[in-house]
Amino acid sequence: MRKPLVVGNWKMHGNTAENVALLEGLLSAELGTSDVAVCPPSIYVAQVAEKLKGSAIGWGVQNISAVEKGAYTGEISAPMAKDLGSKYAIIGHSERRTLFGEVDKDVADKFVAAQQAGLTPIACVGENLAEREAGETLTVVGRQLGAILAALSAGQVDGFVIAYEPVWAIGTGKTATPEQAQEVHKFIRDQLAALSAELAENIQILYGGSVKADNAEALFANPDIDGGLVGGASLLVDQFVAICRAAG
Ligand code: G3P
Repeated sequence: MRKPLVVGNWKMHGNTAENVALLEGLLSAELGTSDVAVCPPSIYVAQVAEKLKGSAIGWGVQNISAVEKGAYTGEISAPMAKDLGSKYAIIGHSERRTLFGEVDKDVADKFVAAQQAGLTPIACVGENLAEREAGETLTVVGRQLGAILAALSAGQVDGFVIAYEPVWAIGTGKTATPEQAQEVHKFIRDQLAALSAELAENIQILYGGSVKADNAEALFANPDIDGGLVGGASLLVDQFVAICRAAG
C-alpha cells in the first residue's frame, strides 16, 4: 500500500526567522498520517535539519549538481545534501528546465547522482500550456519520464518519486482538474509497469501545480495521485497543514 507523501517546495523564499516560525507551526500541528517533508533553499538546509531532527517531518533539497565535487562555484552536490540528513532531492523541476536550461539528459544525470548518494530523487515531469493545448501532454511526459528510466541502473528500479507538474498550473492558481491529473498519473504508472509491476504499484506519484487547502482532497482522492509537491501553499502553515491532512 503506497503511503501518501506531501512535500513543500519553498523555492527561493524564507529567511532564518520566517523559517523558524513556519517550522514551529508545522511541528506543533497534527499533520495526519502521510509522509511530510520540506525542501528549503539549500542555504537553509542545515537550519531546517537542526529544527526537524527527531521529528516526523523530513527535508530535502530543490536541486543538486550531477557532479560529486570539484571546481563548480555555487553548486551543491548530492553527497553534501545527504551529509545534512536530506532524504529527498527535487530533480528537473520545470523552473530548472525553463529558467536554467536543464534538458532531459541533465535531469537523468542528476537523478543518478541523487540515487548514488542515497537520496530519494523526486523527478519532475510536465507539459507547458502550448503542449497541452496541442494534445502533446502524454508525448512530452513520456519523453521526460523515458530519459529518467533509461538512466536507472538495472539493480535500482525503486527508491524514487515522480512528480507530475503541469507547467501551466505552477504558481498560476490554475490547478489541473482531478481528471486531468489522474489521466497523466495513470499514464506514468502504466509506463512504470512496463519496467516493473512492483515499482508501478509502490511508487509515489505526486501532483504539483497550485495545490491548495481547498483542492487537495479532490486531487488526492484519485487512485494514482499519491500526494502533492506544493509550492506557494507550503509557505503558509494553515494551508500546508490542511493539505497534509487531506493526503492522509
Ligand atoms: O514544486 C512545486 C511547485 O512547482 C508548485 O508551485 O506554487 O503552484 O504550488 P505552486
